[in-house]
Amino acid sequence: MIKTVELVDGAARMIDQTRLPTEKVFVDCRTIEEVGHAIKTMIIRGAPAIGVAAAMGVSLGADAISAEDFDGFYSQLEKKCDELAQSRPTAVNLAWGIDRMKRVARAGKDLSLPALKKRLREEAQTICDEDIAANRAMGSFGQTLIADGNNVLTHCNAGALATAGFGTALGVIRAAVNAGKKINVLANETRPFLQGARLTVWELMEDNIPVKLITDSMAGYFMQKKQVDVVVVGADRIAANGDVANKIGTYMVSVLAKTHNIPFYVAAPISTLDLSLASGEEIPIEERSADEVTIINNKRMAPEGAVVAHPAFDVTPNHLVTAIITNKGIALPPFTESLKKLAGESANP
Ligand code: MRU
Repeated sequence: MIKTVELVDGAARMIDQTRLPTEKVFVDCRTIEEVGHAIKTMIIRGAPAIGVAAAMGVSLGADAISAEDFDGFYSQLEKKCDELAQSRPTAVNLAWGIDRMKRVARAGKDLSLPALKKRLREEAQTICDEDIAANRAMGSFGQTLIADGNNVLTHCNAGALATAGFGTALGVIRAAVNAGKKINVLANETRPFLQGARLTVWELMEDNIPVKLITDSMAGYFMQKKQVDVVVVGADRIAANGDVANKIGTYMVSVLAKTHNIPFYVAAPISTLDLSLASGEEIPIEERSADEVTIINNKRMAPEGAVVAHPAFDVTPNHLVTAIITNKGIALPPFTESLKKLAGESANP
């Protein structure tokens, strides 16, 4: 399995997702600031992977602190955490990972500084391990919704690369394949950053799972031709009512799926739920640079000076979501009740 991110020799080692699929390059982040930079520039991306990387970043940040006592240590750690939390706004897993590490730091206030740093390192590793386990659990719940022979459409990359391993939406597909089902994937290319074309197609080809790349604007065509049986996507943040923020273009796919009576499933761990938000309207949507829209592979696609918009995510309203597959089980509408019940104690906040 691809190692998206791992804690090795005082570094968070991550595969550089901006260079895939043509180059397989690993980047070692040795400081919390370097982890923040990797998140911002999308060397690492995908909500759960961001959460795991953030936890590792906090551990690296803690390692670099010298202080007389816990209060001195914690105030420095908080400052670094606040900065890291600014790296990307939409995926709630970032804040989730940081908050969990801060809680562990506070709980260890009576430990010696070296012991506390070790404890934080262990917690970052646990978060990484738990993410893989959550994806496997999601896979086994979710694969029951996929039938043998299904053509599954997905958007963006919600795979091993977007998590610590196995994936959320692609984890469901992997689990269906592992259960002996014949699955064909249609991967939307996902303009403008091309996570579908570059990452999803690469990942599935590595695993010999049949995948066909289509441009985002072809999704309706294939639904009309009855060549899509199910849609499965990931999520960056899910509000209490089941509104889902995910990669820009997801909303469009959900509307098409509704029109064509195709089930639209969202796969996401409990750490992606933000029950503090009543609806998706409150989810902050990241605006990324115009260059990511106008330039592809160093080639300018639009006139210099063109006015460009680049919201990186959109919100799919809950009425377009058939079910939300989590690591604790499958949530069905009405989501306000079902998500709360599944989340128990462990959701955000
Ligand atoms: O901008 P990105 O590449 O970080 O966006 C990723 C997505 O939108 C994914 O679908 C989402 O994070 C779920 S990943 C399991």
